[in-house]
Amino acid sequence: MEQITEYLCRYKNYNFAVGYTTAEYIDSLQSFEIRDSDIFLVTYPKSGTIWTQQIIISICELDGGLNEYPNNLEQMPWLEYREGREEYSLRPSPRLFASHLTPALLPPGLKDKKAKIIYVMRNPKDNIMSYYHFSHAMSDLESPKSFDLFFEQYLAGNVGASSWFDHIRVWHSNKDQYNILFLTYEDMLLDLRTAVTKICSFLGKNLSEASIQQVVEKSTFKTMKKDSKANYKFLPEEKLNGDFMRKGQIGDWKNTFTDAQSERVDQILQERLGDMSLKFIWE
Ligand code: A3P
Repeated sequence: MEQITEYLCRYKNYNFAVGYTTAEYIDSLQSFEIRDSDIFLVTYPKSGTIWTQQIIISICELDGGLNEYPNNLEQMPWLEYREGREEYSLRPSPRLFASHLTPALLPPGLKDKKAKIIYVMRNPKDNIMSYYHFSHAMSDLESPKSFDLFFEQYLAGNVGASSWFDHIRVWHSNKDQYNILFLTYEDMLLDLRTAVTKICSFLGKNLSEASIQQVVEKSTFKTMKKDSKANYKFLPEEKLNGDFMRKGQIGDWKNTFTDAQSERVDQILQERLGDMSLKFIWE
């Protein structure tokens, strides 16, 4: 891996946080054996990953047959980080994984279209805001000197997971190769029950109305904020000095963006993704 800043290293066109993984391990994913029952949650960072993680885990728990793990991170670890866990090949099925990777870095076995991928996208303006605040809270990320500087870094793709615009494009344009469900953070927030029902049916889980309601209740911002298995407060304070569960809203960007910054995002969105007929909810 090529170290590009104190906090970021680059491998195969993708920025990783320093110290989280190795080139050898990322390469080994090319022969990582996928099981038909695997469930992957893929996101660009700060798009609602731990939220969707809670939904998927709650669904699978109610469906029966998940092994106990101390928290959601252990139950659904990030594939790209091993962090001293057991070999993932030794995990019982169904295995749940989160990932921020792009298609080229993920196991090619996902293209057999049996294992399932849920991809969550968030509007880039709220995504920038959330990433900005999180970069202050997470010790492994560079603390932004100012919002304006972070904004430029983000647009240039000089952050962990590289460019949001590239991530969205590459996942949407490769969707036919995968068994994939696309969701947006905003749709989830506006109608959580419909999102939970969609995820259930994509995963082939037949939950009763009462169980679906239970998943919804376990996955609201308010409940998750208090749920120590789900809210990542279990991370040591020297690693996370702040909150994954920050505001959980649509439109927080309006409190910080200048008109010029907002227009810049609109313009880049049009240039880079304008042909993809994606719809965004901004407030
Ligand atoms: P904010 O920083 O805008 O509050 P990720 O899990 O991908 O890191 O994303 C974190 C973002 O998802 C944070 O956004 C967090 O508040 C939000 N989030 C987490 N759980 C949520 C929930 N149950 N409902 C709404 N937003 C949630």
